[in-house]
Amino acid sequence: MKNMRKIKVLLILLILPVLNGRAFTEKELVADGQEKNRTQERSGVPSTGDVDVASLEIDASRLGAPIQSTMYGVFFEDINFGADGGLYAELIKNRSFEFPQPLVGWVSFGQVEVKTDRPCFDRNPHYVSITNDGRLLRAGLDNEGFRGIGLKEGREYCFSAYVRSRDDKPMTLSVELVNRGGENPLKKDIKIRGNEWQKITARLTSPFTDTHSRLRIVLKNRGTVDMDHISLFPADTWKGRENGLRKDLAQALYDLNPGVFRFPGGCIVEGNSLATRYQWKNTVGPVENRPSNENRWNYTFKHKAFPDYFQSYGLGFFEYFLLSEDLGAEPLPILSCGLSCQYESNEVVLLDSLQPYIDDALDLIEFANGPVTSVWGKIRADMGHPEPFHLKFIGIGNEQWGSVYPERLEMFVKAIRARYPDVKIVGSSGPSADGEHFDYLWPEMKRIGVDLVDEHYYMEPEWFFANAHRYDNYDRKGPKVFAGEYASHDHTTKKDNNFLTALSEAAFMTGLERNADVVHMATYAPLFAHVDAWQWNPDLIWYDNLQMVRTPNYYVQQLYGMNAGTHILPVTLKGKTEGVLYASAVWDDKTKEIILKVVNRSETSQSLSFAVDGLKKRVLSGGTHIYLASDDLKAKNVLGEPERIVPHVRPLNMDGNHLQLEIAPQSFNVYRIR
Ligand code: AHR
Repeated sequence: MKNMRKIKVLLILLILPVLNGRAFTEKELVADGQEKNRTQERSGVPSTGDVDVASLEIDASRLGAPIQSTMYGVFFEDINFGADGGLYAELIKNRSFEFPQPLVGWVSFGQVEVKTDRPCFDRNPHYVSITNDGRLLRAGLDNEGFRGIGLKEGREYCFSAYVRSRDDKPMTLSVELVNRGGENPLKKDIKIRGNEWQKITARLTSPFTDTHSRLRIVLKNRGTVDMDHISLFPADTWKGRENGLRKDLAQALYDLNPGVFRFPGGCIVEGNSLATRYQWKNTVGPVENRPSNENRWNYTFKHKAFPDYFQSYGLGFFEYFLLSEDLGAEPLPILSCGLSCQYESNEVVLLDSLQPYIDDALDLIEFANGPVTSVWGKIRADMGHPEPFHLKFIGIGNEQWGSVYPERLEMFVKAIRARYPDVKIVGSSGPSADGEHFDYLWPEMKRIGVDLVDEHYYMEPEWFFANAHRYDNYDRKGPKVFAGEYASHDHTTKKDNNFLTALSEAAFMTGLERNADVVHMATYAPLFAHVDAWQWNPDLIWYDNLQMVRTPNYYVQQLYGMNAGTHILPVTLKGKTEGVLYASAVWDDKTKEIILKVVNRSETSQSLSFAVDGLKKRVLSGGTHIYLASDDLKAKNVLGEPERIVPHVRPLNMDGNHLQLEIAPQSFNVYRIR
């Protein structure tokens, strides 16, 4: 399955547009008789010396530590309209009228009231009552979607709603697709009979393409119709699922070949307050009855407020588990530890009141893994997945700090270990890469005995280049590292997803890979951003309501994810390469290939004599060279020009165990060698 994905993506790379502006001089010469000088043992810490010709040696005589299947993954959070308005394919904002101001997202005309008597859904009791009393020509409402509704000409859309005729009188609704010019060329009549709540559905084929369309509902005859949970999905969702995901965005995740899928955040886990923290139990069961919540990113930045940002929870924990399964990634849910965001309200649950939070963690494991006869296993089965989701990891607390965190975490760890000793627990080292909180929390994590420690770093590109050796001397006996949120922030470009940031991440990640015995997971963050509704940048994937852009950073993640290998191969880099070349290598036991990764951050081409040491015969026959390069460090991919920086592939000819490589300036290179 995963190998098929690799072959598919490789084929796609092969047919990507021609080289983007860079002429490579191909100097792939056999360089026999290389001096062999291995200097490192554990994970291939590169060495430098006063050798004029740079050389890179791989010791293929023995395999290093295994690389975890979870090594490169995806961090998901509903930030930047990442869930509602993003991955979750629902096109209607505030479909249940449950925002505190129940008509946000809607423009009503004629007589439209919000009511709660005899509701359709007990946990989402608000609905609209539309009356056409004959005095007005029309009555109804428009929905604006998430900064518009994206519709494509000729594509089908699934409309549904819960309705009743108040007076038990036959009524007719017109459901219409309206373009940004106000034209409504698509109208479909739906008849309503009976005064009990009922679900109506219709399939609409869009006659136009527009990122900023609207859905309109018009009551055509006299009388009153109550409506709730008004929904519009593209028929073509990821895997054709109802209540599904936007296909292009889910496909982009799949193409990363992620080994782990972390959800639902991020700060959203903690909430602006304890009351608005993420509570997974509110996100499962029938979508119509999942109570919505504010989004923690609504008012975070004073200069960028999003009063209409809420969580419908249509994309909830069941859907996250399902997506993890589809992606072939280990699910990694993160739960509240009983502290609200310490940057915001900083509320603390007293230790003697923590049990409901601990129960949430235990119940979640039962929801994911429990038999269908268990309380939560049955809910999973009722949702259509009797088989367990095989949850192996759980995180407690996001970016917490101070003694309040370990005190609480310890209680979770005891309870989870007692009931589920095989589930691995992730603790946090706070919000930054070093400093007071970090220095306090790491020893605490060791004392408590969590399995992995989540580290976060949003730093300048220079930090990433300089920290390619961050993990070389990490304690091998303690918990493993989960680089759970990281991204290179180029403040000189207001944090663009430019090539410099991608290159610095690629260089840094050689260090993750060389230290894969201690780094077990790494996820770039944040993942998604809607171009018209983002709070935080940079982000891996950008989109509007119809198209998306994979950033250079995306391609770096993809090249690591697709070329993760199964074992570390020690590498030795010699010569004056410090701050210029960065390298790592792995063995892929499934494809029987050596995979070498090299970053050249300099503006000049670098000659690198490459030798594979420790092989009995001249057995390397060639392979593939995949590379990402740009002579403009500030270049980026944008909507309308999404392929300025994309990987390119060419064959690698090799006849023997040595090779003279010419590493292009400002490039990230992956060599797969048979
Ligand atoms: O990734 C964006 C935010 O950065 C996350 O929600 C939070 O954990 C971190 O501060």
